[in-house]
Amino acid sequence: MQSISYHRIKIYDPVLRLLHAWNALVLLMLMVTAWTSDLFERGAHVQALWELHVYLGYALVFGLSARLFWGFLGPRHAQFSDMWHPRAWRRAFTERSFATPPHFGHHVLASAAYLAVYAALLIMSVTGLGLAATELGMGPFDDWLGDRIWLKTILEETHELITNVLAGFVLVHMAALIWHERKDSTPFAQSMVTGYQYLRTYKDRHRE
Ligand code: HEM
Ligand code: HEM
Repeated sequence: MQSISYHRIKIYDPVLRLLHAWNALVLLMLMVTAWTSDLFERGAHVQALWELHVYLGYALVFGLSARLFWGFLGPRHAQFSDMWHPRAWRRAFTERSFATPPHFGHHVLASAAYLAVYAALLIMSVTGLGLAATELGMGPFDDWLGDRIWLKTILEETHELITNVLAGFVLVHMAALIWHERKDSTPFAQSMVTGYQYLRTYKDRHRE
């Protein structure tokens, strides 16, 4: 007879968990401020909402820079090298096989999406700072880009397209966390809050 037990190890450090929460919350507030402003006509409150959006944007630039720094200088499971699994991605792509052996650290296939999200956030930061300069005369790029009005359309379209990609990621990320938790009957989503990851182990239980 087999009995199930769990092997638990602290994997995610407090700085990584804090940055995950910071960047996730700021990203959600950026989406809410942008979509709410789009609902209203022009007016003083719309201007105030966009200014709030830009201040939240600075918070994202800060959180993203800290995450990039931590991705090179943080502990093993915070490093981007812990998310780099090209062989597994290639196998998943060519063999359509998405099963991955249980292991501690970031999910091997989800890691590709996480790296893409950081690249997307980097583009959002650059286009956002560009828009702050061209649309609102704000921010560090204002002196440099403030009067290059022709940039507006390309910045706006890129910014909007990637917003939709990020909204898609958030939905898939939430669905994947719930799905894994149910499929494996193992606490999974909590690891970015407590830092602990669990793996199921099976022990043979002999009758006496
Ligand atoms: C707007 C919402 C969210 C965004 C944008 C987001 C984004 C991310 C990113 C970029 C990573 C990679 C982590 C890293 O930097 O090392 C990650 C991992 C993770 N997130 Fe989220 N997250 C969000 C919400 C949540 C929530 C609400 C939970 C549940 C508590 C959660 C649980 C996790 C877990 C458990 C991992 C690691 C999964 C693994 O090992 O593959 N996330 N998330
Ligand atoms: C990932 C995070 C972000 C999301 C999801 C987001 C979302 C959006 C959306 C949906 C729009 C409307 C685009 C349109 O007019 O069609 C917008 C506009 C804008 N965003 Fe962001 N944004 C983000 C990051 C940033 C950052 C980092 C900054 C600057 C620091 C910024 C500054 C702006 C500005 C200035 C506008 C134009 C405001 C106007 O039309 O007056 N955004 N953003």
